[in-house]
Amino acid sequence: MLSWQRTIECGKLTLTHTGEKVVLNGWVNKVRTFGDLVFVDLRDRTGLIQVVIDNNDTPHLIAAANSLKPETVISLMGEVRKRRAGTENSKLSTGDVEVAAEKIEVLNEAKLLPFTLSDEEQMKQVDETLRVKYRYLDLRRPSMYQMLSLRHKAVKIIRDYMDNQGFLEIETPIISKSTPEGARDYLIPYRLQPGLFYALPQAPQQYKQLLMVAGVERYFQIARCFRDESQRSDRQPEFTQLDVEMSFITQEDVLKLMEEVSIAVVNAVSDKKMTVPFPRFTYDEAMSLYGNDKPDIRFGLTLKDIGEIASTISFHVFAEALANGGQVKAVLYPGGASLSRKELDQLTDFCKQFGAGGLATVSIGSEGMKSSISRFCEANQLAAIAEQCEAKQGDLVCIIAHANKSVVANVLSRLRLEIGQRCGLRSNDRMEFCFVIDFPLVQWNPDEKRWDAEHHPFTMPHEDNLQYIDSDPGKIRAQCYDLVCNGNESASGSIRIHNSEIQAKVFSLLGISAATQKERFGHILEAFSYGAPPHGGFAIGIDRLIMNLMDEQNIREVMAFPKVGPGYDPLMDAPSSVDSAQLKELGLEIVKTDRVNESQNE
Ligand code: AMO
Repeated sequence: MLSWQRTIECGKLTLTHTGEKVVLNGWVNKVRTFGDLVFVDLRDRTGLIQVVIDNNDTPHLIAAANSLKPETVISLMGEVRKRRAGTENSKLSTGDVEVAAEKIEVLNEAKLLPFTLSDEEQMKQVDETLRVKYRYLDLRRPSMYQMLSLRHKAVKIIRDYMDNQGFLEIETPIISKSTPEGARDYLIPYRLQPGLFYALPQAPQQYKQLLMVAGVERYFQIARCFRDESQRSDRQPEFTQLDVEMSFITQEDVLKLMEEVSIAVVNAVSDKKMTVPFPRFTYDEAMSLYGNDKPDIRFGLTLKDIGEIASTISFHVFAEALANGGQVKAVLYPGGASLSRKELDQLTDFCKQFGAGGLATVSIGSEGMKSSISRFCEANQLAAIAEQCEAKQGDLVCIIAHANKSVVANVLSRLRLEIGQRCGLRSNDRMEFCFVIDFPLVQWNPDEKRWDAEHHPFTMPHEDNLQYIDSDPGKIRAQCYDLVCNGNESASGSIRIHNSEIQAKVFSLLGISAATQKERFGHILEAFSYGAPPHGGFAIGIDRLIMNLMDEQNIREVMAFPKVGPGYDPLMDAPSSVDSAQLKELGLEIVKTDRVNESQNE
């Protein structure tokens, strides 16, 4: 039982409270002793306050104060007073005042900690798995509380915004049947009939479409999604989406909503700058200008196709690339002319690791134009390349040639980002969103020798492209869109197929046999035959949005209880074995394999 109930939170004390008697509850952040004075920094979720125990005024408290261990929970009573002139701390919101303790009660003593919470710099060195194992301690840090608070605010803005727009928040089942979103499912065995399984939803895709058939018209959900896929710094096996579906709308309506809700969140919780309206690129434009479908448009340096000039140069690498249906493209490196021989070699190695055979360069230095391919070309050809790339004095043009266009795109898009980084062009002060639209409907999977859905199988092709479904599926563009922010995919969505015949055709194109269609998707095909309205929607990855808002590269830093490595929860020690009785009840037998190395963490 508390002997004293808190009267005010630590972080709220200011000069206006001077002279007041207060009761504070919280955690001991740090204890410092200077002669007759002991200072205890007391912390609660609102902030820190300095508490002073003076041997001259309260000698009976000195021993107790000195023995307080970090993170011990205490309650104390004292008087708020103005700090002596010159001892104020401008870094603390409570830095003008301190509390002179009159009573201290230990509510719960903390044992020796696995890391020192009060030192943010030291915390950066602490092993992440250890931090996650003791997440309840790690989350006590003010920066972590700030993250939780920002997340809460962002989700509240979203809920209020969607509510104002007439959307209903509807929960959909977690224990259900698999919805294909490109990853493996997490399965749950069904005890009553061994051999049957539920699947955790990779997204509530089918349910939200069924809600449109149900006449809801405007649905949203802050939805948990579960995907068994290899982990990356922006992926977690379970994550959260703002999931939305609307009926009787066009793609334009959906993009408008995605834009408005994103702007509402960014403006409410940050002072980051955005370019509005969000620029749009077709998939083909994005690939051509940036070499990928998630362009970082905080800076220009778009890729230039120099194939025409390259075709006049008798350099065998260019000639072979072009003769074999490839490309010769370039990106500008502002100020790159000053790179040393060694730095240029490093840049070449950087390109080689992504499949390039080498890197050709043209630089405009103080002694004129220099090029790694000068022995194959005339000065006017180099000048034409420099001109097409808008190179100025001091710049370097980086050229990649390859018979495979996707190698050129991949290498140059990575090189462009590297150059942007080196030139300080990727500032976190801005959140530059853009839409990428008109994705291909399907992508050829050479390993499996089949067409895979680029987005998911419920995406509607552009109607005038339906004619290619049998003859040239790779040519079909879909009514499908991604929202990209600072070079990361933030959201994606599409107009859906609402006609069971087209849906069945697309399933067939994806190699899903009639029998499998019936077994796995019979419910949705049937639903579409009872008057399904035209509909579409999207999902924003909330964790990724928070990452951008917090300038965070690691998704685990914006989640209360993340998994580490290939999906391990060190706090609960999950996944873990279960006892043989449970397995027996589920009709399961374990065959041991070691797949841990299959998925790695970046
Ligand atoms: P998609 O699979 O593209 O689309 O997911 C939408 C957004 O969710 C986020 N996201 C993730 N975030 C963290 N960890 C992951 N493993 C992860 N996977 C995806 C991304 C992504 O843009 N049902 C469709 C949406 C629709 O068509 O309406 C879907 O889920 O930010």
